[in-house]
Amino acid sequence: MKINLANIKKAKKFLYKNECIAIPTETVYGLAGNAFSDKACKKVFKLKKRPKNNPLIVHYYNYQNLKKDCKLNENFFKLYKKFCPGPITFILNLKKNSKVSKVVTNKKTTLAVRFPEHPVTRSLLKQIAFPLAAPSANISSRLSPVCSNDVKEDFGKKIKFVLDGGRSSIGIESTIIDIRNKPKILRLGGIELSAIKKILRRKLIIDNSPAKISAPGQSRIHYSPGIPIRLKAKKAKNDEAFLFINKKKVAKANYFFLSKKGDLNEAAKNLYSTLRKIKNNKYKSIAVAKIPNKGMGKTINDRLTRASKF
Ligand code: TXA
Ligand code: MG
Repeated sequence: MKINLANIKKAKKFLYKNECIAIPTETVYGLAGNAFSDKACKKVFKLKKRPKNNPLIVHYYNYQNLKKDCKLNENFFKLYKKFCPGPITFILNLKKNSKVSKVVTNKKTTLAVRFPEHPVTRSLLKQIAFPLAAPSANISSRLSPVCSNDVKEDFGKKIKFVLDGGRSSIGIESTIIDIRNKPKILRLGGIELSAIKKILRRKLIIDNSPAKISAPGQSRIHYSPGIPIRLKAKKAKNDEAFLFINKKKVAKANYFFLSKKGDLNEAAKNLYSTLRKIKNNKYKSIAVAKIPNKGMGKTINDRLTRASKF
């Protein structure tokens, strides 16, 4: 992808003034502010209408930049070497003298960190003297954005600048892993659990049940297109959109598919944009046909299950 340097320069200018901008990542777009600035981080919470007790993910260029803020360990480095930059978020212990704003973590002693792979955002991160606090660039509990237009749909002129990076290639949020002690998965996401298991060579604890909510992104109302969703549907009712994993031989106006051939990675990439399309086409509800619960299908089912509880 060609990087527009004038746009990066503009993005930098806003960030140095403690303004929030939207940035592209390979998972979803983020609503970013200087993670060292209380003022910028407060703006992120306010714009997103995010409860103060739901901490932000902080985006770094590389681990060398992170070293001053967090305690790193062997398992972190194993996963970093294999998957970073990429769609994985680590929960780590903060160092006492970390410069990360207390607003980011709501005074918690842990920090969620990620190294995004998108070339535009990497180029930006390389050029600035601070990491970026960036939750997904949607109003709390709405669908995450996978292109600049999605961001504009939610925020209009309220965001000073959207740094365009085209369509997000993964299209679904990062996998979150608490790596401080026994590795614990807090959110399914862009990296499959089997790939993580292979690197760590041990069982993973999965702790993403809505009841516990150690990461509020696990809460049920997240990822919702704002209309009812029912799962494992055999057919659609009147006024209902019918969502399939693969293309059907019979094409009907209310039929939507996630991947022509039923490829689960492609399906994940198309999930949010398809839900958005269905909503914008004014369907009253969505019936979803069964989606295989393996690989990225697990992440897709996780999001749809939470959205169905709306
Ligand atoms: O792919 C992604 O992760 C995207 C892109 C923009 O990087 N970001 C994203 O951020 O999905 P957000 O804020 O929508 O989701 C972050 C999740 C939230 O559920 C939050 O509760 C959890 O991470 N989180 C943040 N800090 C945490 C911490 N210290 N401990 C546990 N969970 C944390
Ligand atoms: Mg989010």
